[in-house]
Amino acid sequence: MALMAGIAAAGPIVIKFSHVVAENTPKGLAANKFRDLVKERMGDKVVVEVYPSSQLFDDDKVLEAMMLGDVQMAAPSLSKFDRYTKSLQLFDLPFLFQDMGAVDRFQQSKEGQELLNSMRKKGFIGLGYIHNGLKQLSSSKPMRVPADAAGMKFRIMASNVLAAQFNAMKAIPLKKPFSEVFILLQTRAIDGQENTWSNIYSQKYFEVQPYITESNHGVLDYMVVTSTEFWNDLPDDIRTELKQILDEAIAYGNAIALEKDTEDKQKIIDSKRTQIITLTPEERTQWVEVMKPVWKQFEEEIGKDLIDAAYKANQAH
Ligand code: LMR
Repeated sequence: MALMAGIAAAGPIVIKFSHVVAENTPKGLAANKFRDLVKERMGDKVVVEVYPSSQLFDDDKVLEAMMLGDVQMAAPSLSKFDRYTKSLQLFDLPFLFQDMGAVDRFQQSKEGQELLNSMRKKGFIGLGYIHNGLKQLSSSKPMRVPADAAGMKFRIMASNVLAAQFNAMKAIPLKKPFSEVFILLQTRAIDGQENTWSNIYSQKYFEVQPYITESNHGVLDYMVVTSTEFWNDLPDDIRTELKQILDEAIAYGNAIALEKDTEDKQKIIDSKRTQIITLTPEERTQWVEVMKPVWKQFEEEIGKDLIDAAYKANQAH
């Protein structure tokens, strides 16, 4: 009731949507689509303001800001929630998903949908998943086998699974915000990083990293989150319509993610700024063997049943 009165008195409900990537990326375009559709269909009732490129918050601050009501929506990568839930660490397990089809099948499954509620007790609701793609390894030196990475410093997202993955390679993982990565690579303060083709392209990492190993070793996807309090306080009709529009925007972003993965990779190849290293099956097996023990390390925190369910999504066609 208080909110309804607030709407009448103060005009439309404002949703600040904060993210860290460029606008011309799957997440950036999905967020803009959400803003535009809300304007078109609910303009008198709700206004979405999108803040890209870490303009408003880095991912390490955005969830705290959401709790304080300074931002209403965000879509951090699934790697960035481990302070709030251990279950989502699942998505960081190396070589869990064979391709984005498997990721999508798992996310749409009963278990995947239940994970949207894994932070409810902490005050966050997941509203859906946005895809980006599989990660590649970029570096200042050529890497064909895991031993080539030994001793090198890699920027990682704030995830203990990813730290374990680089430790398994005898490399040195450093948790750093996305907004700092380019400069760290450019100044050679670090030797490499892992990311999708879309991020490697839009952040221009390929201009300062002479090698990219096409490893497809893990997934980078997002969960759109909002605060439970904000979401539950919305009038029912507004909440329902927003969710429908968001689903449409996500579907739009996910179609783009598939296209961008191929397109941005091709743009990187065409730039001739970096050499793309394609692994032989034998080389790839070495990466799998080195990284795979990470699963056991996190099996208890994540839950074996959940890992099994995700793994099964590779077969279900
Ligand atoms: C990263 O920090 O590398 C990614 O999570 C950025 C993003 O949102 O795609």
